[in-house]
Order: sequence, then C-alpha cells, then structure tokens
Amino acid sequence: MLDRYQQQQGKMIADTVAVDRDALQAFTTKVSREVLGGLNCALTFVGDQLGLFKAMAELGPTNSEALSEHLGLSERWVREWLYQQACTHHIEYDESTSTFSLSPEASIVLATPEHPAYLGGMLHSVTAMYETLGDLPESFRTGLGQSYDDKGESCACGIERMSKKFQSDHLVPDLLPRLDGIVGKLEAGAQVADVGCGAATSTVAMGRAFPDSAFSAYDISVNALARAKGNIDASGLSNIRLCNSDHDPLPEDGSLDLVTTFDVIHDSTHPRELIRAIRRSLRDDGTWLCADIRGGSSFEENLRENPFAGMAYSFSVLVCMSSGLSVPDGAGLGTLGFHEQKAREMSEAEGFSRFRLVEYEGDQFNAFYEIRP
Ligand SMILES: C[S@@+](CC[C@H](N)C(=O)[O-])C[C@H]1O[C@@H](n2cnc3c(N)ncnc32)[C@H](O)[C@@H]1O
Repeated sequence: MLDRYQQQQGKMIADTVAVDRDALQAFTTKVSREVLGGLNCALTFVGDQLGLFKAMAELGPTNSEALSEHLGLSERWVREWLYQQACTHHIEYDESTSTFSLSPEASIVLATPEHPAYLGGMLHSVTAMYETLGDLPESFRTGLGQSYDDKGESCACGIERMSKKFQSDHLVPDLLPRLDGIVGKLEAGAQVADVGCGAATSTVAMGRAFPDSAFSAYDISVNALARAKGNIDASGLSNIRLCNSDHDPLPEDGSLDLVTTFDVIHDSTHPRELIRAIRRSLRDDGTWLCADIRGGSSFEENLRENPFAGMAYSFSVLVCMSSGLSVPDGAGLGTLGFHEQKAREMSEAEGFSRFRLVEYEGDQFNAFYEIRP
C-alpha cells in the first residue's frame, strides 16, 4: 500500500515539475519510512507501557489469546498490536505454530531495562514530546518555548528512564574515580550539590556510595522534584536534601566541594548566571563535574560528522532549546549548544580557570568536563 501511494505521489509531482524521478522516488520512500517510524515509535511505547514485551520475553513464543490473558488485556487489541509489531519486524512470527516471539536482541532492546541497549526510556521521552507538538507553532511565532513542567510528567519520567542506567550503575564506579581527588573527598565527607537533578538518580547513587557526604539535589521543575522525592524517599537515605532552586538557591559562600550537572546547562534559561552561581558555591579547591551533550562546535561540523545530530536537533526543537527559551530573555543554547568549546569559554568567563575533558567513553551522548576554579 505504501509503495503504491509513494508511486502515485511521485508521479503526480513528476508530471507537474521537472524532477529526477528516481531521486523523487527515493526521497518519497525516505519520508514514508519516517512516517512509519513515528507510528511505530508510538505503538512500541504502548507495548513498553503495558508490559507486552516483558511478558513476551517471559512467555516465549505466544499468541494473542495467551498474551492478553497473561496481562488481563483485550485479545482483539493485543492481536492487532502483534500484527503491527510483526509487520514492522520488532517481533517475529512463526507461521507453522501461529506464534509471536522476541529475538534475543529485541528482548534486550525492548524488554530488559537493566541492559545499556534498552530503549524504553528513549521511546518514553520521544512519545512524551508528541503530547506538546500543538504548542510548537505558537513558539515558532512568538519565540517563547515551553518549560520542562509545560512538557508534563511523562517528559520528566522519560528523562529519568534515559539517564538512570548510567547514573545508577556507572557514575560512581566508572566516572567519579576519573576526577582528581574527588572519591577521597567524598569518602571523607564532602558537601555536594547535584544541580538540575531531575529524578535524582545521580544524587541517590552518590548518596548511597558516600554516606559521610552531604548532598543537596536542586531542580526547578515541579514534576522532576516530585520524581526526585519519590526516589530519595525510596532509597531511605538521610544524607540527601531536596531543594527547589527557585526558593532555595545554591549557597553563595564557597562552601561546596563538588557540584554536578548532568545535562542541565544547555537546557537552562540563563546558563551564564547558573555557571556564575556554581562558581560562587564552590570552594577554591572544589570541582564542577559537568556532563553535557557531545557534539561539534558548529552546525556544519555536526552535519558532517555527528551521527546523532539529527536526533539531537530534534530533541532541541521539541524540548531542550524550548526549555532554554521558556522565558522571554532565555538563552536557548539548544541540545548541541554547550559543546566543549562553549563550555570552556563560558566557564572561564565566570571565574573558572581549569578545564579538562574527562576521558570516558561509556556514555554515547554526553561529554564530561572537570571544571575547577
Ligand atoms: C535534561 S534534564 C536532566 C535531569 C537529570 N540531571 C538527568 O540527568 O536525568 C535537565 C534538568 O535541569 C533542570 N534545570 C534547568 N535549569 C535549571 C536551573 N537553573 N536550576 C536547576 N535545575 C534546572 C530541569 O528542570 C530538568 O529537570
């Protein structure tokens, strides 16, 4: 059906304008695949939310009757969803037994949250963005974006699911030891702020590993703070304090040993002021661990060399730049706007004098900077 549609579209346009028919066909096919990708992303997320993939991984080869009964769902809906997922090759169908199953790889990507290749969090974030698509035309006209809270609870939840794996499993054992003297300070008892903590999975991981240190988790999003509170309460830790930066800002007395920001600066409306506040909060021998999106220092470099640029600019228009422009004088750096060169320039301008790119390849989207007064 898609092929015939593409051919008709291509013929209609080719009849009226002098174009290369093959190139037109190829481009129509490309966009049609993306349309299918959008549909598939939404319905794969439905499977993730309902536990359909997880149940399939547990049950092995199954059919709509068994799967719907297992999950207490309507058989007819499950059957159509299975047909859809089979035709888009997320799941496999065995005609000889009329059963559907997940390949081992699909089981990892769609049903194993503990695995680094699991994409449930990404699906969650992307579909959360669909909810606010209706706001974009107005933003394009006025220039004003939407804050993280305007994007709703699912956006905070999707970000949490995307970040959790690295922050829970790798931040403490793999990344912190690469910073100069930080583990020793944390073991001895340090004052730490995790700024833009989101759901505080990073703060909880550090708080658990370093019981003698005191952590303050800051955010401005009510939805993020609610998720952070749930996670901090569930952890049972008493060395983490949760702060809404709007009412309870960073200390200005140079009392902190470590400030962390995980994907915050490029999103913030006033990054210069935030960097200045971080500098003011830090002791002269303190450290700012800044994680921000890996990328080139120009659009051209990203276009040529960055395989994630298309995804990053998509996130930017839908969430990151939008958040950075959610007030009239917002900076709107955008997802790829706080690259290494920019981070060097801006931190130096706000009183930092030492800047080091931390060698760590365990996160495909983020670069990590050790920035010191
Ligand atoms: C992309 S999310 C990252 C959340 C979390 N650090 C993580 O890695 O999952 C960016 C977060 O920064 C927060 N944020 C933006 N500007 C902030 C500011 N000036 N102070 C505190 N939080 C801020 C947003 O509300 C949002 O929760």
